Amino acid sequence: MARLNLLEETRFEKVAVTVYPDQNVASIHVANRIVSIIKEKQAKGEFAVLGLATGATPVKVYKELIRQHKEEGLSFKNVITFNLDEYYPMQPTSEQSYVTFMNKNLFDHIDIPKENINIPDGTIALADVQAYCEAYENKISSYGGLDIQILGIGRTGHIGFNEPGSAPNSGTRLVTLDDLTRRDAAKGFGGKSNVPTKAITMGVGTIFKAKDIILMAWGESKANIVKKAVEGEISADIPATYLQLSNNAEFILDEGAASALTRFDLPWLADDVEWTPELTKKAVVWLSLKLDKAILKLTDEDYNNNGMAKLVTEEGSAYSINIRVFNQLQQTITGWPGGKPGVDDSRRPERAEPASKNVILFSPHPDDDVISMGGTFIRLADQGHNVHVAYQTSGNNAVWDDDARRFLEFAQDITNELGVDSNKIKDLYNEANAYFDVKKPNQIDPEIIRKVKAYIRKGEAIAGARLVGLPDSNIHFQDLPFYDRARLNKEVSFEDDIQQTMELIREVKPQQIFAAGDFHDPNGTHKVCFDIILEAVLRLRETEEWAKECWLWLYRGAWYEYPIHEIEMAVPLAPQEVKRKRMAIFKHQSQKDLPVWPGDDPREFWVRAEDRTSETAALYHKLGLAEYEAIEAFVKWKFD
Ligand code: F6R
Repeated sequence: MARLNLLEETRFEKVAVTVYPDQNVASIHVANRIVSIIKEKQAKGEFAVLGLATGATPVKVYKELIRQHKEEGLSFKNVITFNLDEYYPMQPTSEQSYVTFMNKNLFDHIDIPKENINIPDGTIALADVQAYCEAYENKISSYGGLDIQILGIGRTGHIGFNEPGSAPNSGTRLVTLDDLTRRDAAKGFGGKSNVPTKAITMGVGTIFKAKDIILMAWGESKANIVKKAVEGEISADIPATYLQLSNNAEFILDEGAASALTRFDLPWLADDVEWTPELTKKAVVWLSLKLDKAILKLTDEDYNNNGMAKLVTEEGSAYSINIRVFNQLQQTITGWPGGKPGVDDSRRPERAEPASKNVILFSPHPDDDVISMGGTFIRLADQGHNVHVAYQTSGNNAVWDDDARRFLEFAQDITNELGVDSNKIKDLYNEANAYFDVKKPNQIDPEIIRKVKAYIRKGEAIAGARLVGLPDSNIHFQDLPFYDRARLNKEVSFEDDIQQTMELIREVKPQQIFAAGDFHDPNGTHKVCFDIILEAVLRLRETEEWAKECWLWLYRGAWYEYPIHEIEMAVPLAPQEVKRKRMAIFKHQSQKDLPVWPGDDPREFWVRAEDRTSETAALYHKLGLAEYEAIEAFVKWKFD
């Protein structure tokens, strides 16, 4: 039975929550809970009945179960499993089926008898689905119900595939998937249009009957939905809120997924806190935005009414806190991202000297540079710094087949025109066409096609960087080997990538590096790209003096900007700079209109970029600072 935490700091939480430092530790804990049920039942000569989930979330739990089977002799002979759901229609042999997922991630590696495995059947005729679902439900009951059910949570708040609107007493049934759920699944299916629109899922009522329910969530991208599920009102709009009604449910989170809970995000509302300068800044920004009042207008009363009375008592008055935080924010703003030469720089984000800096902007994909920090990129170049850009991966994965075909046609025409022997191009064109005609969703392209796609992106990136004003000699294509290796499922070592990156840094000897600091998706390309840069810089700092003078600035490459209180350098853009940035983004034609991986945001990249920077500018203005057209934001990496 789950225990609702009764500490003061958890008073906003309506279901039991346990937070672990990371998903590895948390997954081992969940695996051990499952193992103890299996062993307990073994001792009694009974079946352990497990409710299992698919998706990214439980993968490490399964890994640990496999490890215990292989290394510690854990047996699954007495285990019966029921999976939550399956797409409909779906062939079990399909790459995307949950049958394939479960085999790959668990069943193929343990000694569970095949007949003990139950996964909803995506091949049942529509007319028979209802009877099938009833039988599935009855089969669970016939084993005495689920001893434990593990769950992930979708960003719609679904558990299983119980999407918004599901009833608390719903049983196993055929459901229609939410658009957001299908978009989230698009990557695995090679495009949203390939994702089935329906699924068979256990109902909320089915899940509820389990003796123990564990909902796991990892990473910041789940933080908002977790907060709603844990602290929000119970509502059909967010089916996971139904778990608040169960005494058997527990949320197991890593720090990222827990980060929006009040006790972590706004801890002064939950309990007494120690008012550090960082927390004070965060709280004052929050208070100002919440009350829609500029920082310098906040009163003692505003503080006292919003959980910040102790701060005012400690400081004496709101007035001095307001001025301090206002100045801190003011000092983040600079039109000189490479430092302003010849001025006192003690309160500026960057050093004044050397007046002309060597800079490397690392861009994980060929367009992150201009999308995420195009305005700053332009300023650095305009202000006379020696700016280099390094495209870390080829980005070939995100080019449509149509575009590859079009460029091969172009190459054919040119070779014909020149009367050059074009047979090889012709052959390649024909081979490519034959391949595209039979290509399966998500199939990994042969090397030559990947190269064609990479060249398309290379040309776009060069055009973008030239528009910013870089000489060709300062444009580098690293084509880091991990990128293709990871997708080809080959063993991934990052040593080559690190060496290559160290070489480039050594060549340029930068005083400034800009890197995409996206940490919310630990397996994502951006995070891997950042880890490679960090490791390269750390190694160089050990032996080379100049490397210690190199500052590492992070920009957010993905969709969201840094929260205001974390921003350490805010570079305002004038309207004409926003336009120039837009032109640079337009050079990435293969990513325009409809990118291969649109993520969960239907807006085109240039629109996302402009919305994000104008939103940051609007927030600064709301807080009572000057009004700008747009602001790009950066955070400085702390090496010590
Ligand atoms: C999976 C399932 C879903 C997932 C949820 C989270 O069987 O029913 O509810 O648990 O969509 O997916 P991931 O773990 O991929 O984030």
